[in-house]
Amino acid sequence: MKRHLISAADLTRDDAVLVLDTAEEMARVADRPIKKLPTLRGRTIVNLFFEDSTRTRISFEAAAKRLSADVINFSAKGSSVSKGESLKDTALTLEAMGADAVVIRHPASGAPYRLANSGWIDSTVVNAGDGTHEHPTQALLDAFTLRRRLVGRDAGMGKGLDGRRVTIVGDVLHSRVARSNVLLLHTLGAEVTLVAPPTLVPVGVESWPCEVSYDLDAVLPKSDAVMMLRVQRERMNAAFFPTEREYSRRYGLNGHRMAKMPGEAIVMHPGPMVRGMEITAEVADSDRCTAVEQVANGVSARMAVLYLLLGGSEPAISTTRTEENN
Ligand code: NCD
Repeated sequence: MKRHLISAADLTRDDAVLVLDTAEEMARVADRPIKKLPTLRGRTIVNLFFEDSTRTRISFEAAAKRLSADVINFSAKGSSVSKGESLKDTALTLEAMGADAVVIRHPASGAPYRLANSGWIDSTVVNAGDGTHEHPTQALLDAFTLRRRLVGRDAGMGKGLDGRRVTIVGDVLHSRVARSNVLLLHTLGAEVTLVAPPTLVPVGVESWPCEVSYDLDAVLPKSDAVMMLRVQRERMNAAFFPTEREYSRRYGLNGHRMAKMPGEAIVMHPGPMVRGMEITAEVADSDRCTAVEQVANGVSARMAVLYLLLGGSEPAISTTRTEENN
């Protein structure tokens, strides 16, 4: 594996399968009464969040703590960043504090790449979402959820998602989740179809390894999983569709539409969900929606990423002692 995780494209198929297999081992730790491994004891992980986040920040924090790392949470609000400090000076401060890994979320696409390649810091950099660019750990937790549901927990070990059909629906243009998922799912052998209003399909999508459709009803019966995306109003500076009602009618998932999916097919959402917009409460609360499961899986997937990037080559669990035995 590369030293940093900036894009889903940084992962080869073998890397991605290794992360998913390791996440499966990590998930077993979550079932124990004491959910902790000593693997990253003495290591320092900084969560550097320049943009709002609920799930991702808490998830990285839980993952680092379960691996016994020391965690420093840094949010731009209330820090010297709001006094005008630059990314470089913030990075130098973190370096001086001896960070082994920096998990960064930033509104500017490319900020994690800059941090990793600037020479400002020696630490490993993990992208936790940069602008409209990428969110590779979200793609990993989604792939983990898909493999568990569509292939099976034990049956999936060592495997990818070959031939599984995943449909990603909504505001693809502003979605770093969609970008990272298209890349990773393709690497793992899945067939991806994007469905969005023409105004929310990115320029240059022809070069992405996926299909594009504007007809949700036609694609649903051919999907093993349907991933709904939030409409990212905070990143919009123009009107991309006439009204919310019109958007929901054409691209929202309701109970009637969900019934068109094959019996075993699942509905995914990275959160935060806007109920009544891209997804109805009926679908969000149904057994087929994996949104909450995705959050739980996020901790296992991020434990796997932090372990593989920082922990080195020793087995994560089998030969290490747990806190229970210490
Ligand atoms: C997403 C994000 O921040 O990119 N959420 C997440 O990480 N769970 C998607 C979104 O904000 O809609």
